Amino acid sequence: MSETLHAGAAATVLPARDVRGIVRIPGDKSISHRYAMLAAIAEGTSRFHNFSAALDCASTLDCMAKLGSKWKRETNKSEADDLVGEVIEVHGLGRRLQAPIQTLDCGNSGSTMRMLSGILAGQPFSSDLCGDESLSRRPMERIITPLSQMGATISSKEGGRPPLTIRGGSLKGIHYKPEVASAQVKSCLLFAGLFADGETVIEEPIRTRDHGEIALRAFGAEVDRAGNVSRIRGGQRLSGIEAHVPGDLSSAAFFLCAAALFPGSQITLPGILMNPTRARLLDILMQMGLKISVSHLEEHHGELVGSIEARGVAWKGGKISGADTAALIDEIPVLAAIAAYSKEGLEVRDAEELRVKESDRIAAVATNLRKMGAEIEELPDGMRIPGGQRLRGAELESYGDHRIAMAFAVAALKAEGETVIHGADAAAVSYPNFFEELRAITST
Ligand code: S3P
Repeated sequence: MSETLHAGAAATVLPARDVRGIVRIPGDKSISHRYAMLAAIAEGTSRFHNFSAALDCASTLDCMAKLGSKWKRETNKSEADDLVGEVIEVHGLGRRLQAPIQTLDCGNSGSTMRMLSGILAGQPFSSDLCGDESLSRRPMERIITPLSQMGATISSKEGGRPPLTIRGGSLKGIHYKPEVASAQVKSCLLFAGLFADGETVIEEPIRTRDHGEIALRAFGAEVDRAGNVSRIRGGQRLSGIEAHVPGDLSSAAFFLCAAALFPGSQITLPGILMNPTRARLLDILMQMGLKISVSHLEEHHGELVGSIEARGVAWKGGKISGADTAALIDEIPVLAAIAAYSKEGLEVRDAEELRVKESDRIAAVATNLRKMGAEIEELPDGMRIPGGQRLRGAELESYGDHRIAMAFAVAALKAEGETVIHGADAAAVSYPNFFEELRAITST
């Protein structure tokens, strides 16, 4: 397996006999984005330990710098306190950012573009936002419509695609019911709501991750949440915080799925995010046959954190639909990539959103699995993968999508023969050291 992956690099993954060891997972990407954005509009200095190493979060920091937010990065070398990754110090500007001279490049990051748009809608200047090829194909209507109702003027390419130009100004609170269940949309509107007159209410069709609400409270705002309804009053001021970002459960999922493949495997993942709106993954993994125990539960700035021990026994598979699909949306690619090895297979439904992620993840999973010799039925909103199949190593594509690159690195561990993943460097979008860490826990 290659160690340092350069742009366009391929990774070779060999079949493994077992996975075993401790993995220290970098800070959660969803929380890191929100902390970086809120720190910039807070008063005073914020410090974040174990800030995500993801390229996506670097895109957010880059955009915040272009908006006048001064931040610096230090590498945390302390082994003693189990902290890995970086400490980021951000000097807050208060509610008012500086008009950007350059276009805000969000790279591959939908989270950056969608959530930052909420803050920009409340600023008395115009901003241009762009992204890479993948982000330029992704739907932004879901934020353009409500932000326009609040009073921002936003132009986009046809069909609501990036690049965007946002002319911010005075906003008014709205009561909005998004059609798609999206935490990015909810956070975008909560952030805009901070700058709006009156109250902004978001009523979601299905409950999504609540890092936006929790982060806003950590920075001192009052945010109300009851069931699927979140509300924020405009005009509130934020204060900087010092926080430790919990390990990203969506990154941990790749190692948990690797353990699931090998009876007798054992992995330990300290300091992982256990937020109930994300941790449904652990219930599903247990239902599907992984033995999991969680210890050292703590709360950091409203986010639950714990250590995971997982043991592989026998992988059963199952069905994911409805609210579970929304809760597991980022983990479905890896669950699908290993499904053919399960006893019962896997059915995924209600997952249309997977088609508009960094790649069309339903098509990407189906194409790669077929290349490995698997049988798979692709559905408009999901897929059916029969269990009990044997896969062979093959030449696969990441389709420039980090989660596809990592999902198939895991699937390759149990295939017959070597697998080459082209464009494996995409993993850095959320997890730059992924291939190194995977190699460290596998025995071939
Ligand atoms: C995220 C929400 C989800 C998820 C994405 C991160 C967030 O996207 O897929 O990786 O941090 O809020 P949607 O809001 O589009 O569902």
